Amino acid sequence: MEDNVKELENQALKELVKVNDFKSLSEFKVKYLGKQGMYTALLKEMKNIPSDERPKFGAIINTSRQKIENIIYETEERLNAQELENKLSQQKIDITEPAKNTQQGQVHPLYKVMNKIIETCVEMGFTVVDGPEIETDYYNFEALNIPKDHPARDMQDSFYITQNLIMRSQTSAMQIRAMETMKPPIKIISPGRTYRADSDATHSPVFHQLEGLVVDENVSMIDLKAILTQLLKTLFGDNTKIRFRPSFFPFTEPSVEVDATCPMCGGKGCPRCKGSGYMELLGAGMVNPTVLENCGIDSKKYSGFAFGFGLDRFAIIEYKVPSIKMMFENDIKFLSQIK
Ligand code: PHE
Repeated sequence: MEDNVKELENQALKELVKVNDFKSLSEFKVKYLGKQGMYTALLKEMKNIPSDERPKFGAIINTSRQKIENIIYETEERLNAQELENKLSQQKIDITEPAKNTQQGQVHPLYKVMNKIIETCVEMGFTVVDGPEIETDYYNFEALNIPKDHPARDMQDSFYITQNLIMRSQTSAMQIRAMETMKPPIKIISPGRTYRADSDATHSPVFHQLEGLVVDENVSMIDLKAILTQLLKTLFGDNTKIRFRPSFFPFTEPSVEVDATCPMCGGKGCPRCKGSGYMELLGAGMVNPTVLENCGIDSKKYSGFAFGFGLDRFAIIEYKVPSIKMMFENDIKFLSQIK
């Protein structure tokens, strides 16, 4: 019996050395170790030997079988290494092949302009606040001295969600939220998306504003003029001329419209500024005392001014874009041209 095992083992070892691929290895496994395999057949023969000798032979068979299994494992390792070696020698990297083009994203031009204005304002001491895009009628209109059915509402054709909720038509709503929660001195800006039912080359139903508000003791029209002049010169250059024209907003009194020399022609007059040499850039004014009182601020002690930029107009001037709609179409071909 012992000789039988030795003989089988030698035969197996001889065959195993010749195994040179995975297919013959698996055939080998079936032949020797499988259910119908030769080691199994030897174990079955155990019934023919006396029972007191069985454990001894059992151990001999198992040791031999273990030896074969170990060598199978080594053969597997050898075949794996061989396969990898073959693959590596066959696959070549073509270093002359053109590289794949990766597209890099960038900040949207509108947000570049917005960030530039925010940075300038923050340097001037303003704090940035943020507010909801869906506003109540109260914050968007009523508290800003625009009562229901007042003709001033026609200036802003708004999207109503319910009778009482609207897509904010101006960031001015943030004036109220700031004055309700902060105590003077207040010096904030509120940039964000705004919505109106307007649509042509220079108007889009969604657009962006940046509202500024300063409230303190003794704030006057002189402060408004100084701060806005400084801000616009920082943005457009020291040679920019600034013009203040009387205007009307229900929440400011007096109100002004602020123009700067057209950055396209430097004030000479061009099609962009319709020959006037100036571009209208923002609305501003001294906060109407009624609005201060609506927010619980004593209008005898405190005064303030507010201003509102149309950021989209800034962006189309800065990047010489013909239509505001291009800012919202998200056409990569267009956006990637703006650096
Ligand atoms: N909210 C005004 C508008 O959208 C602009 C503005 C802001 C005017 C602040 C005065 C003061 O037209």
